Amino acid sequence: MTTRILEDYQTLSVTAADEIIAAVKSNPAAVLCLAAGDTPKLAYALLGQKAKNESVSFAGCTFIGLDEWVGIAPENEGTCRHFLYRNLFGPLGIRAAQIHLFDGLAKDLGGECNKMNDVIAGKKGIDLMLVGVGMNGHIGFNEPGTPVESYSHVVDLDSTTQTVGQKYFTQATALRQGITLGLKHFLGSGRGVLVAAGRKKAEVIRQALEGPLTTSMPASIIRRHANGIAILDAEAASLLKV
Ligand code: F6R
Repeated sequence: MTTRILEDYQTLSVTAADEIIAAVKSNPAAVLCLAAGDTPKLAYALLGQKAKNESVSFAGCTFIGLDEWVGIAPENEGTCRHFLYRNLFGPLGIRAAQIHLFDGLAKDLGGECNKMNDVIAGKKGIDLMLVGVGMNGHIGFNEPGTPVESYSHVVDLDSTTQTVGQKYFTQATALRQGITLGLKHFLGSGRGVLVAAGRKKAEVIRQALEGPLTTSMPASIIRRHANGIAILDAEAASLLKV
C-alpha cells in the first residue's frame, strides 16, 4: 500500500480523479466501483473535464454500486443511487446498461447480494474500487467486526453509521440496515483506493493506517491490498507519525 498526502481537499480530489482516469486509460472496459458520500464528490465533478482533456471515454466501462441503504426509496436524495446518478452517471452520460446497483427495496435481499456477486464474478472482478471511510472505520457498509472473507451482504448498521448517515437526508430518516459489497471484493480489486479528507477523519485514519490490523477497524484492510493507495488531505493525515 502507498499513502499520498495532499495539501487540501482540492488536490486530493484531483489525485483521486486521476486514479479513475488512469484505470480507464489502461482498460477502456474497466469495471469501476465508486463510493457515494461527501469525500469523492469533487473528484467526480472533475472527471468530465479530465476525461475530455485526456480523450478518455467511459462508454465501455461497467459501474458497480458499493452499497445502499435498505428500505429507502430510490428517489430519496439520500440514497447512494441518487447520489451516483446526480454526481457521476448523469454528468458523464453513463447508460443504464453500464450500471449495476443494489436495490435497497428488494424483497429478496439475499438474492440481490447473489446477483451482485454474480455480476462481479462474470466481469472477472473489479478493476478499481474507490472507497471512503466512515467515522467508525467502515468501508462501504462493512461495519466493525465484518469478516475479511465477506462478499455482498446485508448488515445491521451500527449507531455511528445511523447517526452520521443523517447528513445525506433532508429529514430525519430511520437507517437500520444496509446492503454492501464485502471486504473480499475490495481485497480482490485490481486497484484499491481509499480517500479521506478533513480533521474529523484524522483519528480513524491514524487507527486504520498505524493501529492494529483488525476487523474492528475495517479500513485497516487497505494495508493488506496488494495494489492499494490511501489518498488523504493534510488534515486527515494530521495524526499520522510519518
Ligand atoms: C458510501 C459509503 C460510505 C462512505 C463513508 C464516508 O457509498 O460506502 O462508506 O464512503 O461513510 O462518507 P463521507 O465521504 O460522506 O464522509
